[in-house]
Formats: sequence, structure tokens, C-alpha cells
Amino acid sequence: MNKLTDCFTLSNGVKIPCVGYGTWKSSIEDAKNGVIKAIEVGYRHIDTAAAYENESGVGAGIRESGIKREDLFVTTKHWITERGYDKTLRAVDESLKQLGLDYVDLYLVHWPCVECRNPNWKAVNADTWRGFEQAFRDGKIRALGLSNFEKKHVDALMQTAQIAPVVNQIEFHPGYTQMENVRFSQQAGMLVEAWSPLGSGAVLNDPFLNEMARRYNWSVAQLCIRFALQHDVLPLPKSVTPARIAQNAQVFDFTISPEDMKAMDEMPLLGFSTYRPEEAPADALYD
Ligand code: A2P
Repeated sequence: MNKLTDCFTLSNGVKIPCVGYGTWKSSIEDAKNGVIKAIEVGYRHIDTAAAYENESGVGAGIRESGIKREDLFVTTKHWITERGYDKTLRAVDESLKQLGLDYVDLYLVHWPCVECRNPNWKAVNADTWRGFEQAFRDGKIRALGLSNFEKKHVDALMQTAQIAPVVNQIEFHPGYTQMENVRFSQQAGMLVEAWSPLGSGAVLNDPFLNEMARRYNWSVAQLCIRFALQHDVLPLPKSVTPARIAQNAQVFDFTISPEDMKAMDEMPLLGFSTYRPEEAPADALYD
């Protein structure tokens, strides 16, 4: 990858620009302004979610940027309150309405329904996925994927899926890489995307990463974004700050050495943001 417009190719042939602009925790207004800035500095891939409650801002930013729809890759995500076939179809339409778009490039199941919360979890996920497949056939989505799925959830889904997921978006940053899940997902034909590639900011003050970043004459944020790319993981850095949005796009003229990649891989737990799906607290996931 040499520039923001270089693409990974998903296993269904759809091309996806190699760094996405993340919008988790952005307000509607910040999402709008951030998307305009991101497109101005060259990002062609925007990631949002129904649960972020900023899809309308993302859509407004896209329109104000003046970019042609076909030159942009837009991802949104299905929320846990909308599980099941009929609700999923309605959720797709609602997201398209909020975004002001006719289709999204990628639609993700935001979190799996999990065994510890619902003994019927397999059927619930299967039913939701049938809704995804229908919306895909209806031309509202170009690629279907998952988020926060582990092997157990993917294996169960594949028992009934007619269309295979092509993406798994998971938490990934130095200090929490879930390498086992990365490898499994890649072997299962999914591109892995990194949410919180900067650990939601929690890794940026780490002394070890700061020392390494100084050696490369880069910021820790750039180092983290590059770290994901060198693992063939697609980073989705979030920022509402124009200078940082621009800085996070400058990650193509240096390479982290194999020794430093190994050292980053082996860092102790740092910046782990929430929980694994099967360990969700009672107020986090419900069915
Ligand atoms: P802000 O949005 O206020 O600019 P992640 O992508 O892992 O979720 O991390 C997002 C967090 O990291 C946000 O708090 C964001 O701040 C901050 N951030 C993003 N890019 C940079 C950067 N280049 N330097 C410092 N902080 C950054």
C-alpha cells in the first residue's frame, strides 16, 4: 500500500481503500466536518454505525464534499436492537435514509448475539444474516461483514449462511491485537479491520511506543496505523481534529522493521477498551 486510495480486495472482489476514516464517538456536527476534511486530504473510505448516532452527519459531510458517490467507500453497522430478519431489513433502510445514500459499500453485524446472553444465539444470528443477504440481493449493500465476532460465532453463522462474510472488524492496536482472531479471520477469507487502532488514544502516551516513534521521526498515532497495515489489517483511525486527520493519512513513506513489529506484537496488555463479546456486561448487550 502506497497511498490512501490503494485498496485491499475483499474476497467477493469489491475493492476497499486501505485506511478508513473512523467516526466512533463523533457528534453529528463533528462527523460532518471530519468527513469533509478527510475527503479533502484524500481519504476515500468512511466508517460509521447506526449506534454512533452520527450517520446523518456523515451523509451531510459526503454531500458537502462534492465527491462522486462511486469514488467513496462507506461502511455502516447494524445495531443489536435490530436483530432478526424483518428488523434487519428495516435497519438497513433507516441507515440509508440517515446517510442519504442509495446503498452502502459494506454493512457489518456490530456485535454477535452470544451464548452467555441468549441460549438461542445461533438462530438469532442466522436470522439477522438472512436479512443481510436479502438487502445485498436487493442492491442496498455491496459487501457483507461482521464485527467483534470470534471463531465460535463465525463457525456457527457459516452453518446457514448463503453469502460468506468478507470482513471482520475487531479491536486491534499495539497492546491488544487478538492475533488468534486475526489469523482465523484472514484464513476464513475475511479482511480484518482495526477499530480503535490507536487504542482510542490510550496507547499514545506509552513510553515504549514514544521512544520507537521518535526513532522513526513519526507520531505514535502514525506508528499504530502503520502497524495495522503491515499486518494486512485495515486501520480506521478516528479524529475530529483537522491536523490529526491529515497526519493520520501520512503513513506510506516509512516501514516498521521486523524487529520493531515483533516488539510491538509482544507488548503487554495496553488500552483494551471494553470486553470480549462472551464477557459482555449485562447493560452492554441484550437480545
Ligand atoms: P480527536 O478525535 O480529539 O482528535 P482511535 O482511532 O483508536 O479510536 O483513537 C481516537 C482517539 O485518538 C481520539 O481521542 C482522537 O482525538 C485521538 N487521535 C487521533 N489521531 C491522533 C493523532 N494523530 N495524535 C494524537 N491523538 C490522536
